[in-house]
Amino acid sequence: MPFPQHRPRRMRRTEALRSLVRETTLAPQHLVWPLFVLPGTKVRNPVKSMPGVFQLSVDELVAEVQQGFEAGVRSVILFGIPEHKDPQGTEAYADDGIVPQAIRALKERVPGMVVMTDVCMCEYTDHGHCGILKASKAGGPGNELQVDNDLTLPLLAKEALAHARAGADIVAPSDMMDGRVAAIRAELDGAGYQDVPILSYAAKFAGAFYGPFRDAAESAPVEGPGIPKDRKGYQMDPANWREALREVELDVAEGADMIMVKPAVPYLDIVRQVRDRFDLPTAAYHVSGEYAMIKAAAERGWIDEDRVVLETLLCCRRAGADLVLTYYAKHAAQLLSGKK
Ligand code: PBG
Ligand code: ZN
Repeated sequence: MPFPQHRPRRMRRTEALRSLVRETTLAPQHLVWPLFVLPGTKVRNPVKSMPGVFQLSVDELVAEVQQGFEAGVRSVILFGIPEHKDPQGTEAYADDGIVPQAIRALKERVPGMVVMTDVCMCEYTDHGHCGILKASKAGGPGNELQVDNDLTLPLLAKEALAHARAGADIVAPSDMMDGRVAAIRAELDGAGYQDVPILSYAAKFAGAFYGPFRDAAESAPVEGPGIPKDRKGYQMDPANWREALREVELDVAEGADMIMVKPAVPYLDIVRQVRDRFDLPTAAYHVSGEYAMIKAAAERGWIDEDRVVLETLLCCRRAGADLVLTYYAKHAAQLLSGKK
């Protein structure tokens, strides 16, 4: 019915009226805080391309996570920067690796915090790829190296198990190998960890938004003869939305407990479709490049950082994300709880 019968502005007149009809909420418990941990004590290395983000030693990590908890953040996801890297990413699945050390400290010191771990090989391999490199037989005499799917699966499974043994609440594979959810599920179940859920980075796109993260995690692919220069051979083509739904469907079938779309804002169409089509808790990862863009514009005084952050995270929720992974988690939680 047209004007003047309908005046949508009536319900926008005051904040009380607006909040009465607000369809989407954003609260600290919707946020997951990604953190980078490395060996040592009292280490707090600023990440240049991500102002406000640090590589932290375990002691500093505990202090930081305590602050997040006080602000209302209830989950973190850990990324490890190991002492040594090698072609097999050995430290990724070591029981005394940096991530297991961090998990144990956090479970002891901040027991109310849900500790998730990123399960991938790229921080641990000397070539910087998310799995084991091997020449492919496809397409003729094979001298092109690629990440070998089936050689990588058992290593990812071992890594997830090492995290579970250390006390991780949730493991989150981000490698994009086919069949990794099933492989991890079988390994966890075989060792008695059937109660540890898997958050699958189900639709992860090979775009340009991960650059700052690779500085933070020291995980960029290295240049070298035969080494693939990017991750397009395993992460998804940004052009594909139907394939994204197939990827999610496979991970659901393999037993994923939660699913993720990554990056977030440029891919909110995917988030919406995934949320509509599947009935599992859905996460969106507001990635490093998205964080860096807001920071850069805010530093120039071109945007109001706090307002842009809250709007961005709210819009991820409106698109269907139950959870949003964001480097802004502590900051946003402080804003939401009026502590800032
Ligand atoms: C590891 C991993 C990456 C991110 C999360 N897990 C980087 C990559 O795929 O190169 C990206 C997170 C971000 O950019 O904030 N596979
Ligand atoms: Zn990786």
